[in-house]
Order: sequence, then structure tokens, then C-alpha cells
Amino acid sequence: MSRDPRYDILFEPVQIGPLTAKNRFYQVPHCNGGGYRDPSAVAEMRRVKSEGGWGVVFTEQTEMHHSSEISPFIELHLWDDDDIPMLAKMSDAMHEYGALAGIQLAYSGVNGPNLYTREVPLAPSAMPVRTFTNDPVSARAMTKKDIRDLRRWHRNAYKRAKTAGYDLICLYGAHGFGIIQHFLSSATNHRTDEYGGSLENRSRLMRELIEEGKDVIGDSCGITLRLSLDEAVGDLGFSNNEVRDLIEMHADLPDLWDLAHGTWEDCSAPSRFKEEAAQQELVSGIKSLTSKPVVGVGRFTSPDVMVKQIRSGVLDFIGCARPSIADPFLPSKIEQGRIEDIRECIGCNICISGDMTMSLSRCTQNPTFMEEWRKGWHPENMQEKGASDSVLIVGAGPAGLEAARALGKRGYQVVLAEAKTELGGRVARERKLPGLSAWGRVADYREYQLSQMANVDIYLDNKLSTDDILEFGFQHVVLATGSSWRSDGVARHHLLPMPDDKSLPVYNPDDLMDGDMASGNVVVFDDDHYYMGGVIAELLVQQGAIVTLVTPAAYVSEWTNNTLEQAAIHKNLVEMGVTIILNRALSKIENGVVFTECGFTGGEDSLPADAVVMVTSRVGDDDLWQQLSSREHEWREQGVASIKLIGDAQSPAPIAWATYAGHRYARELDMPDIGDDLPFRREVAQLKD
Ligand SMILES: Cc1cc2nc3c(=O)[nH]c(=O)nc-3n(C[C@H](O)[C@H](O)[C@H](O)COP(=O)(O)O)c2cc1C
Ligand code: SF4
Repeated sequence: MSRDPRYDILFEPVQIGPLTAKNRFYQVPHCNGGGYRDPSAVAEMRRVKSEGGWGVVFTEQTEMHHSSEISPFIELHLWDDDDIPMLAKMSDAMHEYGALAGIQLAYSGVNGPNLYTREVPLAPSAMPVRTFTNDPVSARAMTKKDIRDLRRWHRNAYKRAKTAGYDLICLYGAHGFGIIQHFLSSATNHRTDEYGGSLENRSRLMRELIEEGKDVIGDSCGITLRLSLDEAVGDLGFSNNEVRDLIEMHADLPDLWDLAHGTWEDCSAPSRFKEEAAQQELVSGIKSLTSKPVVGVGRFTSPDVMVKQIRSGVLDFIGCARPSIADPFLPSKIEQGRIEDIRECIGCNICISGDMTMSLSRCTQNPTFMEEWRKGWHPENMQEKGASDSVLIVGAGPAGLEAARALGKRGYQVVLAEAKTELGGRVARERKLPGLSAWGRVADYREYQLSQMANVDIYLDNKLSTDDILEFGFQHVVLATGSSWRSDGVARHHLLPMPDDKSLPVYNPDDLMDGDMASGNVVVFDDDHYYMGGVIAELLVQQGAIVTLVTPAAYVSEWTNNTLEQAAIHKNLVEMGVTIILNRALSKIENGVVFTECGFTGGEDSLPADAVVMVTSRVGDDDLWQQLSSREHEWREQGVASIKLIGDAQSPAPIAWATYAGHRYARELDMPDIGDDLPFRREVAQLKD
């Protein structure tokens, strides 16, 4: 297949300063929870992007001086020459298939608590540091000498970045995270000297840093600037109008303008709240203010939308973070005319949770993300099948579908049996809930891939018994039978079923997804803490109920702090009229009344209720597994070499865990037993005297 000529424009080369990107696909900086701790894993992940056809591949934010760092988050460092080898490994990987290698330099200013280096944070003006963790630390106002030092530190970092092999150096002034933004914004810059006050003064440091960068390395490297399109912190903030004034004032100063919306939450907004290309309005018209290329973002997965951004003169480069994570081969697939093969990002922000939890990032759609080096997993290639031939997969939810896709690709004869009449399991149901339609892409992508495989047969409406499974004679059986929500309140607060005299109807999310309707005063008890409590509250409001959401946590949908959705969820629920009760748990249902207790004092209160919805926990649907396990002695004589339980059926978790489990099963089938060895590679810190 070859490229559709409509998309030719996406493959035009574009100049950035002294260099030329081979096409318009620009992987903007994104962290991955690995950073300095897992440099080879990060390097390999970037190599795969280069292989996938991106014209530009960037690192994540790289702390360019030890006096400003954002521990506990794990990013890259460029503190001294010792950091050069690992960064050079990354730039080599980015170059391998012809991408320009970019490094984002961050000096975090008022966003850097310096918990690790213990340096006093520096900022344009003195104020408490502004971090996700509200660290009880303040930044001091920079003196003129500090500003001179900062300029020197940048010059040192530019030279090191060049030595490490980078072509593009991006200064970070977006998302409230970089000191350039802190100087530009009147909200954080209260100075009265030549670095504060007028826009010209507030942009002085930015200008100096870029001009000095050009002096130091500008002959061979491009200097780009990443700015927020609107700081979105109220009247004082760096507004979209001021951004336009700034770009007009310094039109051709950087070699490229990299524009990203407001806070990180705004910029990486989930599909629940923002569509593809949501930043278009904020960026439109900016290109006419400069002769330099403009890159913008907006969860771009559709080549038609991308082409429109270029043809209508909004952007020169298609910036992608999440779409490049979900499908590192997105550019190649467009180039090869394989649009249907694009694994579209679902906008769930699980990738961000890896950074926020300082673990390694995962991707719901791409289970190989951050396993490229650790496990040698490639997002497009699977190793050939091993000694055995046939696999029966029971259950076509995210785990079963991914197992079928990956096993099919390896060349096994696969049968996928699903008890329901459609593919997708939990995704088929949850995609119908408010805001979650894009999550259906987990099933859509896999359904299409399976439809292309002659060696995978799918049987819907096919509930298998243990006899069926043993008699079919498949060599391997994998049970991906999903999970069900409990109704008895058991989760974190109640370790045993909650007292309930059955005087009120009690539902769980499965009941509502099956079509049950709760009406009148409905109390949602959320002890699950991820998205479902908020989504169910929204569904109930849509159905006309008066909703109160009770949670023992300090936040609604607390874990969504890790996916940057929490504030939007809370706002949305308040605007819908949901009453939110935090730090309290449902304690009992008695005589048609719901009682709550304070999580700290145990103090009791009561609420009027006509119905209760328990969003508490799920249990794996492992009946088949239990029954088959009890007949293990029969497996061999039936020709069954293994039966395994995977995904939610084994241990309920987010969808990303399920696609990972399915993929892992497929990768490891017929592989040698590694016994007690570590199932992944890692890097251990080098000891010094
Ligand atoms: C996991 C993750 C990590 C990110 N880390 C950075 C970062 O280090 N520096 C940065 O400027 N932006 C970062 N971003 C923001 C992205 O560069 C991008 O602006 C945003 O996600 C919107 O683009 P998208 O819709 O293509 O994801 C990150 C985004 C994600 C999803
Ligand atoms: S984790 Fe979710 S949001 Fe992030 S890239 Fe993957 S599918 Fe997209």
C-alpha cells in the first residue's frame, strides 16, 4: 500500500533553524516515569519513535541545573558532564532512523521544591513553591547575580546538550513549569527592575537565554521555545492576548514556537473532557505573527485533522505526545497507507499516572510502552510462534482481545470465545457511559486487527463450560473472563460486607450498565477512587436523580489526581448539581436511611436516600478457572498443556493492566521458563568511592 496523496503535505520537510526535519510529525517532550533512573529504557522508547517515522523526537523535560529540580518526580538530568553519556545514548537512538533529536531544558524556578538537592529554590519573586505536592518550601527572589548565573548555567547546558548529540534545544516555558514562564507572567513576576513590569522587561530573560543559545551553538542546533498558550490562572496571568503580543514582539527570535495550552491538566486534557484539536482556537492566527515554524498539540490521531491544521495555516508541525505513545508508528502507518492500523490514543491519561506515581509509565493502548528495552518488546513486531500451535482464549475483553491479537501475530491458531454478543468486555459496556466513548478504541483497534488474521476465529454468544474447554483439545487455554462490581460495600473502608437491612435498593455500576435506573435521592458511595464513581454520578444526574457522592477520600475520584482529571471531574460534578461529601464513608443502611461516618472521628450522620449505588470494588470472574483447576488431573489426557487466568479475572485493575496482561501472555507463551530470575532488565546505580 502507498500513501494517500491527501497526506503528502504531512511528509514535507520543514526547516528549524540550521536543520531540516524530514516531515511534519513532531514528538513533543513527554516524560515516562523512567527518566534518570531508567535511561536505557527511555532511550529505546525514543528509538522506536524514530523507527516509527517521527521527523522530530524529543526527550522529556531535562533538569538543566542542580539548583532546580522537581523531586520526587523522575525526569532527566543535565547537571554536569556525568549526565552526557546517558543523554548521548538517547540522541543516538533518536537519530537512528533519521529523526532530529531534541532535548527539553527545564529550569523549574517556582515549580522546583529541590527536595533532593536541598538548594534554596530561585524564582523571579519570592513565593511558596507551586507543586503538585504543595511542598512547604519557598523560593527566594533572584538577584541580578542569580540571573547572570542562570544565563551561564544555560550556556553550559547548551554546550553539554550539543556534546550529547542533540540537534534541537527547547526551553521550557509552558504548563507553569519553566522559569521563562515565571518571568513572563505578572502572576509570578513582581519585580520592579528591568526584568519585571512591562512585557518587554518580563521577556528580557527569555530573549537573553535564546540569543546566548544562538551565540553558543546556533550554527549547528536549533533553539526552540515552548510556551503556554494561556496561563489560565486568572486576570494577572500570561493570557492568550499577551502570548500573541510576545510573539509579535520577538517574532523570529527562537527557531520554532512550540505552543501548548495552559496548565498541564489543560494541555493533556483527557478525552472525557476534550476532543481532538481542542487547542485550535488558542493557536489560530499565531503563525501569521512569525516567519518561524509553529508546532501545536491536541491529541491528534486522525490524518485528516492533521492535514486541516496545516492547510488552514494553523500549524507547521503536528505535535504529539499521547498519540505517539499509543502508536509510535503513527507516521509510518500514514505513509504506508495503513490508516486502519493506527492504534489511536483513547485519552485516558494512564501514561501520565506513571510519571505522577514515579513508577514506569504504561499505555492502555500500547502495552509495549516502556518495555521496549526492559523486556525487548517492540510495538509492531512479535517473535514467531514457539513449539505449540493452538490457543483457546475465553473472554473478549481488553485482555482477551490483546492476547488474541498478539498470539495471532505470532502465528498461533487462535480461537476467541466470548459469552456476550459483542467484543470488548468491560470496554464495550463502559464506552456507553458519559464521556468514555473514546475508550471504545481499545476494542475497535483490536477488532479490526483480528478481522485481518486468517488464523484467529471469533465465536460470539458462546458461553463455554469446563467440559467444552477440556474436550476441545486446545494445547493452551487462557481465561480472560473479566470481573464484576460488588454490591456489599467491601473495598478499602469496609473489609467485610457493610451493615444493610435491605430497606433500600442497592445497585452497583454493572446494574446501571445493564440498564437498571436508580431514581429520587441517590447516594453514590465511592470507595474505588478511580473514574467510575464520578462517571456513575454523572450518569445518574443525566437520568434525573438527585445525587450525593460520599467518599472516604479527601478528593472525589482521588486516584484521578494521577491522570490529571481530578479537578475537571470535581468541577463537572459541582456544575451538574451533585452534592459531594468528602472524608466520610457509608457506615450502614437501616430503616430506609443511609448513615455516614467521619473517616477521622467516626462521628455519625445520616442522609435521606431512595437508593444507593456502591462503587467500591470488583471481584474477578474466575468460576471457570476454579472449576478447571479442580480438574487439573484431566488436563494432560485431554491434550491441554496449560490453562492460565489473566487480566481483571485474576486481579481487577485499570484497562491498561488488562491489555498488558494479554500482551504478556502472548509474548511469554512457549518461552523458556526463567525460574526465579527477574522478568525484566534494569539499570543499577554505579557505585562511587
Ligand atoms: C506522559 C506525559 C508526559 C509529559 N511530559 C511533558 C514534559 O516533560 N514536558 C512538556 O513540555 N510537556 C509534557 N507533556 C505534555 C505534552 O508535551 C503535550 O503538550 C500534551 O500532552 C498535549 O499533547 P497530546 O495531546 O499530543 O498528548 C507530557 C504529556 C504526557 C502525556
Ligand atoms: S495511556 Fe491512554 S492517554 Fe496515554 S497514550 Fe495511552 S491511550 Fe493515550
